Amino acid sequence: MAGRWILAAGASRGIGLATTRLLLREGWSVVASARNTRAIEEEFPDVGEDRLKIVPLDFAQTGELQDCASKIVDLTGGVSGMFYAAGMQKTMPLTQSKTQLAEEIFRVNTFAAFELIRLFSKKGAYDANGASFVLLSSMAAHEGALGKALYGASKGALEGFIPAAAAELAGRKIRLNALALGVVRTDMSMEFIDKMDEGQRRTLEEGYPLGLGDPDDVALFIVYLLSERARWITGQTFVLDGGHSVRKS
Ligand SMILES: NC(=O)c1ccc[n+]([C@@H]2O[C@H](COP(=O)([O-])OP(=O)(O)OC[C@H]3O[C@@H](n4cnc5c(N)ncnc54)[C@H](OP(=O)(O)O)[C@@H]3O)[C@@H](O)[C@H]2O)c1
Repeated sequence: MAGRWILAAGASRGIGLATTRLLLREGWSVVASARNTRAIEEEFPDVGEDRLKIVPLDFAQTGELQDCASKIVDLTGGVSGMFYAAGMQKTMPLTQSKTQLAEEIFRVNTFAAFELIRLFSKKGAYDANGASFVLLSSMAAHEGALGKALYGASKGALEGFIPAAAAELAGRKIRLNALALGVVRTDMSMEFIDKMDEGQRRTLEEGYPLGLGDPDDVALFIVYLLSERARWITGQTFVLDGGHSVRKS
Protein backbone atom coordinates (compact mmCIF):
# COMPACT_ATOMS: atom_id res chain seq x y z
CA MET A 1 0.00 0.00 0.00
CA ALA A 2 3.06 2.27 0.18
CA GLY A 3 2.36 5.60 -1.49
CA ARG A 4 -1.34 4.83 -2.06
CA TRP A 5 -3.44 7.66 -0.68
CA ILE A 6 -6.99 7.47 0.65
CA LEU A 7 -9.04 10.59 1.40
CA ALA A 8 -10.70 10.10 4.79
CA ALA A 9 -13.61 12.56 4.91
CA GLY A 10 -14.78 12.96 8.52
CA ALA A 11 -11.67 11.51 10.18
CA SER A 12 -11.74 13.24 13.56
CA ARG A 13 -13.92 10.76 15.45
CA GLY A 14 -16.28 7.79 15.25
CA ILE A 15 -16.24 5.53 12.21
CA GLY A 16 -13.98 7.88 10.21
CA LEU A 17 -11.33 7.90 12.92
CA ALA A 18 -11.46 4.09 13.35
CA THR A 19 -11.08 3.63 9.58
CA THR A 20 -8.17 6.09 9.41
CA ARG A 21 -6.45 4.19 12.22
CA LEU A 22 -6.93 0.85 10.42
CA LEU A 23 -5.76 2.20 7.05
CA LEU A 24 -2.56 3.54 8.63
CA ARG A 25 -1.99 0.25 10.45
CA GLU A 26 -2.37 -1.65 7.15
CA GLY A 27 0.22 0.54 5.41
CA TRP A 28 -1.96 2.97 3.44
CA SER A 29 -1.29 6.71 3.39
CA VAL A 30 -4.20 8.94 4.41
CA VAL A 31 -5.36 12.50 3.73
CA ALA A 32 -7.47 13.05 6.84
CA SER A 33 -10.11 15.77 6.78
CA ALA A 34 -12.66 17.26 9.18
CA ARG A 35 -13.29 20.58 10.90
CA ASN A 36 -11.56 19.62 14.13
CA THR A 37 -8.13 18.76 12.77
CA ARG A 38 -6.54 19.09 16.21
CA ALA A 39 -8.30 15.87 17.23
CA ILE A 40 -6.62 14.10 14.29
CA GLU A 41 -3.20 15.55 15.14
CA GLU A 42 -3.58 14.44 18.75
CA GLU A 43 -4.65 10.95 17.69
CA PHE A 44 -1.62 10.33 15.45
CA PRO A 45 1.28 12.34 16.92
CA ASP A 46 3.96 9.97 15.59
CA VAL A 47 2.79 9.50 11.99
CA GLY A 48 4.93 11.42 9.47
CA GLU A 49 3.76 13.64 6.58
CA ASP A 50 4.69 10.88 4.12
CA ARG A 51 1.84 8.76 5.59
CA LEU A 52 -0.64 11.29 6.95
CA LYS A 53 -1.64 14.69 5.63
CA ILE A 54 -4.26 16.63 7.56
CA VAL A 55 -6.53 19.00 5.65
CA PRO A 56 -9.06 21.16 7.55
CA LEU A 57 -12.36 21.32 5.73
CA ASP A 58 -16.01 22.06 6.45
CA PHE A 59 -17.98 19.88 4.03
CA ALA A 60 -20.99 22.18 4.38
CA GLN A 61 -18.99 24.71 2.33
CA THR A 62 -19.47 22.87 -0.96
CA GLY A 63 -18.03 25.84 -2.88
CA GLU A 64 -14.63 25.20 -1.30
CA LEU A 65 -14.39 21.57 -2.35
CA GLN A 66 -12.93 22.20 -5.81
CA ASP A 67 -9.89 24.13 -4.47
CA CYS A 68 -9.45 21.61 -1.73
CA ALA A 69 -9.53 18.67 -4.16
CA SER A 70 -6.87 20.39 -6.32
CA LYS A 71 -4.71 20.85 -3.22
CA ILE A 72 -5.10 17.16 -2.32
CA VAL A 73 -4.15 16.11 -5.86
CA ASP A 74 -1.03 18.32 -5.63
CA LEU A 75 -0.13 16.79 -2.27
CA THR A 76 -0.64 13.16 -3.31
CA GLY A 77 -0.38 12.95 -7.08
CA GLY A 78 -3.90 11.47 -7.13
CA VAL A 79 -5.88 9.33 -4.68
CA SER A 80 -6.54 5.57 -4.69
CA GLY A 81 -9.86 6.11 -3.01
CA MET A 82 -12.02 7.95 -0.56
CA PHE A 83 -14.44 7.05 2.18
CA TYR A 84 -17.00 9.65 3.13
CA ALA A 85 -17.83 9.36 6.86
CA ALA A 86 -18.73 13.00 7.46
CA GLY A 87 -22.34 13.33 8.44
CA MET A 88 -24.85 15.14 10.58
CA GLN A 89 -28.08 13.97 12.08
CA LYS A 90 -30.92 16.11 13.42
CA THR A 91 -33.93 14.44 14.94
CA MET A 92 -36.86 16.74 14.26
CA PRO A 93 -40.63 16.26 13.69
CA LEU A 94 -41.43 16.63 9.99
CA THR A 95 -43.77 19.58 10.64
CA GLN A 96 -40.81 21.54 12.04
CA SER A 97 -38.26 20.45 9.42
CA LYS A 98 -37.94 23.57 7.28
CA THR A 99 -36.21 23.77 3.90
CA GLN A 100 -33.22 25.48 5.52
CA LEU A 101 -32.61 22.41 7.70
CA ALA A 102 -33.04 20.10 4.70
CA GLU A 103 -30.43 22.11 2.79
CA GLU A 104 -28.00 21.98 5.72
CA ILE A 105 -28.35 18.21 6.13
CA PHE A 106 -28.12 17.50 2.39
CA ARG A 107 -25.05 19.73 1.97
CA VAL A 108 -23.01 17.73 4.48
CA ASN A 109 -24.48 14.23 4.10
CA THR A 110 -25.09 14.15 0.37
CA PHE A 111 -23.95 16.99 -1.90
CA ALA A 112 -20.36 17.13 -0.60
CA ALA A 113 -20.02 13.37 -1.20
CA PHE A 114 -21.36 13.70 -4.79
CA GLU A 115 -19.04 16.63 -5.46
CA LEU A 116 -15.94 14.90 -4.10
CA ILE A 117 -16.64 11.81 -6.23
CA ARG A 118 -17.09 14.05 -9.27
CA LEU A 119 -13.84 15.90 -8.59
CA PHE A 120 -11.75 12.81 -7.81
CA SER A 121 -13.06 10.92 -10.86
CA LYS A 122 -11.39 13.38 -13.22
CA LYS A 123 -8.32 12.18 -15.07
CA GLY A 124 -5.18 12.87 -13.02
CA ALA A 125 -7.12 13.19 -9.75
CA TYR A 126 -7.09 9.43 -9.08
CA ASP A 127 -4.48 6.70 -9.31
CA ALA A 128 -3.74 5.38 -12.82
CA ASN A 129 -4.65 1.87 -11.53
CA GLY A 130 -8.14 3.01 -10.57
CA ALA A 131 -9.86 4.00 -7.34
CA SER A 132 -12.55 2.96 -4.88
CA PHE A 133 -15.07 5.24 -3.17
CA VAL A 134 -17.18 4.22 -0.17
CA LEU A 135 -20.18 6.17 1.13
CA LEU A 136 -21.94 5.68 4.47
CA SER A 137 -25.70 5.40 4.35
CA SER A 138 -28.05 4.47 7.16
CA MET A 139 -30.90 2.09 7.90
CA ALA A 140 -32.82 5.32 8.53
CA ALA A 141 -33.27 5.40 4.74
CA HIS A 142 -35.18 2.09 4.95
CA GLU A 143 -37.20 2.12 8.14
CA GLY A 144 -39.52 4.59 9.77
CA ALA A 145 -37.50 6.09 12.58
CA LEU A 146 -39.46 9.01 14.06
CA GLY A 147 -37.96 12.45 13.42
CA LYS A 148 -35.44 11.13 10.90
CA ALA A 149 -37.23 11.91 7.60
CA LEU A 150 -34.66 14.45 6.35
CA TYR A 151 -31.68 12.43 7.57
CA GLY A 152 -33.15 9.28 5.93
CA ALA A 153 -33.78 11.18 2.70
CA SER A 154 -30.20 12.48 2.60
CA LYS A 155 -28.91 8.91 2.97
CA GLY A 156 -31.43 7.43 0.51
CA ALA A 157 -30.10 9.86 -2.08
CA LEU A 158 -26.60 8.41 -1.61
CA GLU A 159 -27.94 4.91 -2.26
CA GLY A 160 -29.84 6.10 -5.33
CA PHE A 161 -26.67 7.68 -6.67
CA ILE A 162 -24.57 4.51 -6.40
CA PRO A 163 -25.78 2.24 -9.26
CA ALA A 164 -25.76 4.76 -12.11
CA ALA A 165 -22.56 6.47 -10.99
CA ALA A 166 -20.82 3.11 -10.54
CA ALA A 167 -21.85 2.01 -14.03
CA GLU A 168 -20.58 5.29 -15.47
CA LEU A 169 -17.25 5.19 -13.63
CA ALA A 170 -16.44 1.49 -14.12
CA GLY A 171 -14.79 2.31 -17.46
CA ARG A 172 -12.25 4.39 -15.49
CA LYS A 173 -11.60 1.46 -13.12
CA ILE A 174 -13.33 3.41 -10.38
CA ARG A 175 -15.52 1.40 -7.99
CA LEU A 176 -18.28 2.90 -5.89
CA ASN A 177 -20.17 1.26 -3.02
CA ALA A 178 -22.17 2.24 0.04
CA LEU A 179 -22.83 0.75 3.48
CA ALA A 180 -26.27 1.09 5.07
CA LEU A 181 -25.52 1.03 8.79
CA GLY A 182 -27.59 0.18 11.81
CA VAL A 183 -26.73 1.81 15.13
CA VAL A 184 -22.98 2.03 15.76
CA ARG A 185 -21.71 3.37 19.10
CA THR A 186 -20.24 6.81 18.29
CA ASP A 187 -20.82 10.43 19.36
CA MET A 188 -23.60 10.66 16.74
CA SER A 189 -25.63 7.72 18.07
CA MET A 190 -24.85 8.37 21.75
CA GLU A 191 -26.44 11.80 21.36
CA PHE A 192 -29.86 10.15 20.97
CA ILE A 193 -29.17 7.00 23.03
CA ASP A 194 -28.20 9.16 26.02
CA LYS A 195 -31.64 10.83 25.89
CA MET A 196 -33.47 7.47 26.08
CA ASP A 197 -34.94 6.10 29.28
CA GLU A 198 -33.97 2.60 30.38
CA GLY A 199 -36.96 0.96 28.66
CA GLN A 200 -36.27 2.65 25.34
CA ARG A 201 -32.62 1.64 25.53
CA ARG A 202 -33.55 -1.99 26.23
CA THR A 203 -35.95 -1.99 23.25
CA LEU A 204 -33.21 -0.59 21.00
CA GLU A 205 -30.69 -3.21 22.12
CA GLU A 206 -33.23 -6.03 21.75
CA GLY A 207 -33.58 -4.98 18.10
CA TYR A 208 -29.94 -5.89 17.48
CA PRO A 209 -29.40 -9.68 17.76
CA LEU A 210 -25.61 -9.21 17.52
CA GLY A 211 -25.63 -6.07 19.69
CA LEU A 212 -25.00 -2.49 18.61
CA GLY A 213 -22.02 -1.96 16.31
CA ASP A 214 -18.59 -0.60 17.13
CA PRO A 215 -16.69 1.69 14.73
CA ASP A 216 -14.14 -1.08 14.05
CA ASP A 217 -16.92 -3.38 12.75
CA VAL A 218 -17.52 -0.86 9.98
CA ALA A 219 -13.87 0.15 9.45
CA LEU A 220 -12.91 -3.42 8.50
CA PHE A 221 -15.49 -3.51 5.72
CA ILE A 222 -14.62 -0.04 4.42
CA VAL A 223 -10.93 -0.96 4.20
CA TYR A 224 -11.84 -4.18 2.37
CA LEU A 225 -13.93 -2.24 -0.19
CA LEU A 226 -11.11 0.26 -0.68
CA SER A 227 -8.59 -2.51 -1.31
CA GLU A 228 -7.81 -4.46 -4.47
CA ARG A 229 -9.33 -7.54 -2.81
CA ALA A 230 -12.73 -6.02 -3.67
CA ARG A 231 -11.74 -5.41 -7.31
CA TRP A 232 -14.91 -7.09 -8.67
CA ILE A 233 -17.40 -5.27 -6.42
CA THR A 234 -19.12 -2.06 -7.46
CA GLY A 235 -22.52 -0.37 -7.51
CA GLN A 236 -23.73 -2.01 -4.27
CA THR A 237 -25.18 -0.93 -0.96
CA PHE A 238 -24.34 -3.44 1.77
CA VAL A 239 -26.35 -3.63 5.00
CA LEU A 240 -24.25 -3.80 8.19
CA ASP A 241 -26.63 -3.88 11.12
CA GLY A 242 -25.90 -6.75 13.50
CA GLY A 243 -28.94 -8.66 12.25
CA HIS A 244 -31.34 -5.78 13.02
CA SER A 245 -33.17 -5.93 9.67
CA VAL A 246 -33.67 -9.72 9.74
CA ARG A 247 -34.62 -10.13 13.39
CA LYS A 248 -37.89 -11.81 14.35
CA SER A 249 -40.23 -9.24 15.91
N1 LIG B 1 -23.18 5.96 14.28
C1 LIG B 1 -24.26 5.42 13.74
O1 LIG B 1 -25.06 4.77 14.41
C2 LIG B 1 -24.51 5.59 12.26
C3 LIG B 1 -25.58 4.87 11.70
C4 LIG B 1 -25.85 5.00 10.36
C5 LIG B 1 -25.06 5.81 9.56
N2 LIG B 1 -24.03 6.51 10.13
C6 LIG B 1 -23.24 7.39 9.25
O2 LIG B 1 -21.87 7.06 9.34
C7 LIG B 1 -21.09 8.25 9.17
C8 LIG B 1 -20.13 8.38 10.35
O3 LIG B 1 -20.90 8.52 11.51
P1 LIG B 1 -20.30 8.55 12.99
O4 LIG B 1 -21.28 7.90 13.85
O5 LIG B 1 -18.88 8.11 12.99
O6 LIG B 1 -20.39 10.13 13.26
P2 LIG B 1 -19.62 11.07 14.29
O7 LIG B 1 -19.01 10.29 15.39
O8 LIG B 1 -20.58 12.16 14.63
O9 LIG B 1 -18.45 11.66 13.37
C9 LIG B 1 -18.79 12.44 12.27
C10 LIG B 1 -17.54 12.87 11.55
O10 LIG B 1 -17.95 13.74 10.50
C11 LIG B 1 -17.24 14.97 10.60
N3 LIG B 1 -18.10 16.06 10.17
C12 LIG B 1 -19.38 16.30 10.51
N4 LIG B 1 -19.81 17.43 9.93
C13 LIG B 1 -18.77 17.90 9.20
C14 LIG B 1 -18.58 19.03 8.37
N5 LIG B 1 -19.56 19.93 8.19
N6 LIG B 1 -17.40 19.20 7.78
C15 LIG B 1 -16.37 18.33 7.99
N7 LIG B 1 -16.50 17.22 8.74
C16 LIG B 1 -17.68 17.03 9.35
C17 LIG B 1 -16.89 15.10 12.09
O11 LIG B 1 -15.74 15.90 12.25
P3 LIG B 1 -15.73 17.41 12.82
O12 LIG B 1 -16.87 17.55 13.76
O13 LIG B 1 -14.38 17.50 13.44
O14 LIG B 1 -15.86 18.26 11.60
C18 LIG B 1 -16.57 13.64 12.44
O15 LIG B 1 -15.24 13.34 12.08
C19 LIG B 1 -22.09 9.41 9.05
O16 LIG B 1 -22.31 9.70 7.70
C20 LIG B 1 -23.36 8.84 9.67
O17 LIG B 1 -24.51 9.45 9.12
C21 LIG B 1 -23.73 6.41 11.46
